[in-house]
Amino acid sequence: MPDAMPHIWTIGGGKGGTGKSFFTGSLGFLLAAQGARTLLIDLDLGAANLHTIVGVSHPEKSIADFIHKRVVTLEEAVVSTPHPNLSLISGAMNNLDMPNLAHEQKQKLLRNLARLPYEYVLLDLGAGTAYNTIDFFLTADVGIFITTPEPTAIENIYRLIRSVYFRKIHQVLKTYDFKALAGEAERQNPLATISNPDLLLPIIARLDPAKGALLEEALGAFEFKLVLNQLRKQDSQNIGALICKIVGKHLGLKMEAIGNVGFDDRVHYAVCKKRPFLELYPYTPTALDLRECCRCLQSASQGTPALQKIVD
Ligand SMILES: Nc1ncnc2c1ncn2[C@@H]1O[C@H](COP(=O)(O)OP(=O)(O)OP(=O)(O)O)[C@@H](O)[C@H]1O
Ligand SMILES: [Mg+2]
Repeated sequence: MPDAMPHIWTIGGGKGGTGKSFFTGSLGFLLAAQGARTLLIDLDLGAANLHTIVGVSHPEKSIADFIHKRVVTLEEAVVSTPHPNLSLISGAMNNLDMPNLAHEQKQKLLRNLARLPYEYVLLDLGAGTAYNTIDFFLTADVGIFITTPEPTAIENIYRLIRSVYFRKIHQVLKTYDFKALAGEAERQNPLATISNPDLLLPIIARLDPAKGALLEEALGAFEFKLVLNQLRKQDSQNIGALICKIVGKHLGLKMEAIGNVGFDDRVHYAVCKKRPFLELYPYTPTALDLRECCRCLQSASQGTPALQKIVD
């Protein structure tokens, strides 16, 4: 059992049905198959179905048991899956939903994540930009955004990335007590608010170079990964790189396109069978895409896992 903190990866997307749960389940399967103790947590409260993807028909326990204090530790809400080294905390069978998770409940959950005795903890987040969803992104070692190449999904993922980034700026400004500086920046240019970091940050750096450098460092350390899922043959292979470029240009945020995962009708079949796609079709192009994504993410989260500051 590792005594270090787990690597925490979050998987989210702006739109429903982009493949968050399929991707989370696939990564979990791959990590566990390497012998790494891996825990999947379904945080798509209100629409949880990760248990079905990993072949658990009726999870006996769920995250609700922890939130409603029927168990003391998060670990007690874990159920096993049919796959060695792969465990699950289900989000099913409860009347919780993420936007309404109380502040204290969220904080308790965040604190407990860092103590889980697993090598990898993967969080399947629901679609949308609820504050609570965003806060899980801010605590992860690796934040993974997943979208399909459809313009509607891309619009939503951009909105989500922007919300997460703005919340991060807000958090950093609050932590380092930037209130007076941010106020002065806004007096100098009423448009220089958190919603316009490209205007706000340079003014702060000019007003107080030391704090400007601090801010740059805190935000520079923040890097996201992007996955394009369900790519068909006719789709451009460069959509991911293009999205990253736009995110860099408009938000000044570093984002890396780590891979394209091809569309394969057999994913549907595997989900219906409640079997991992990777187990049924290990040598298909989509399986190879998934392996490559997993490899990239593992190298991105190498080193000591660093659970970032718990959000207030
Ligand atoms: N690469 C793929 N090729 C073909 N079908 C896929 C692929 N990825 C996902 N799917 C299919 O897309 C559908 C949505 O996948 P999934 O449930 O993982 O999405 P989600 O983002 O978790 O959705 P929700 O927001 O509803 O939780 C499923 O029917 C799944 O079988
Ligand atoms: Mg899902």
